Amino acid sequence: MTPRVRKAVFPAAGLGTRFLPVTKSQPKEMLPLVDKPIIQYGVEEALASGVENIIIVTGRGKQAIEDHFDVSFELEYLLESRGKTKELDLVRRVSELIHVSYVRQKEALGLGHAVLVTKELVSDEPFAVVLADDVILSERPCLRQLLDVYEQKGCSVLAVMEVPPEETSRYGVIAAEPAGDRLYRVKDMVEKPAAGKAPSNLAIIGRYVLTPEIFAALAATKPGSIGEIQLTDGIRQLLSQQPVYACRFEGERYDAGDRLGFLKATVELALQRDDVGPDFRRYLSSLKL
Ligand code: G1P
Repeated sequence: MTPRVRKAVFPAAGLGTRFLPVTKSQPKEMLPLVDKPIIQYGVEEALASGVENIIIVTGRGKQAIEDHFDVSFELEYLLESRGKTKELDLVRRVSELIHVSYVRQKEALGLGHAVLVTKELVSDEPFAVVLADDVILSERPCLRQLLDVYEQKGCSVLAVMEVPPEETSRYGVIAAEPAGDRLYRVKDMVEKPAAGKAPSNLAIIGRYVLTPEIFAALAATKPGSIGEIQLTDGIRQLLSQQPVYACRFEGERYDAGDRLGFLKATVELALQRDDVGPDFRRYLSSLKL
């Protein structure tokens, strides 16, 4: 039987340079999409997929993330004494959501390195990686879709989506052969291929299920694209020892780490809301664009 995936790693130590100046004194993971920080969407997706232990990789200046998932004694006391039960529930739910651990990535040495620093916390078991910047709206949570494949195949699984050829250089891209409905067996992969050099149009999106052998592979991975240890290069090493699958997930993905993607995600999420959605829709249709 394949061991159950119990833990999800959230790399959150990045500097957020794509979002300056707001990220100068504030973690990008805490920017709100409507009224919830970006990272909470990812955490809720992990929970909805059946993964309740969250490991967040932080760095300097990321205290707000820890406070967000912690108990806020003063705020709860105040809300309770004023009879604001709805708000109290909302605030309490956040801290009750997860079992959370934090580990520091002391230097910004790349995504692969961020995953490597969780080795002691993850230990010798399969785990998920969620890049919270990639906000994915889908009926069946994207991570759940990957876990279904993992439970069937017992090996690492990556989320992929088709992107236009001019965008492949922004992503890890796989070379793969079809292996079923929305499923591929990965043959090779490359991080941010130069224009015209991508092996396919299937780009890796920020959801992974990885076997624990990834840690040894990452430890042996030399810095690659932009001098950082790339997760893609680590998984490529893993490929020489065991199969890796890719799942072309169902759902809509927004790159909330990018200004335009962030705006699109905000609009879509606001439209889906029961409270502000109807008024917001009317407002948007009244705009003379
Ligand atoms: C990271 C990964 C890349 C992946 C992308 C998905 O890149 O290195 O392989 O395609 O996330 O969002 P980043 O966006 O951090 O540059």
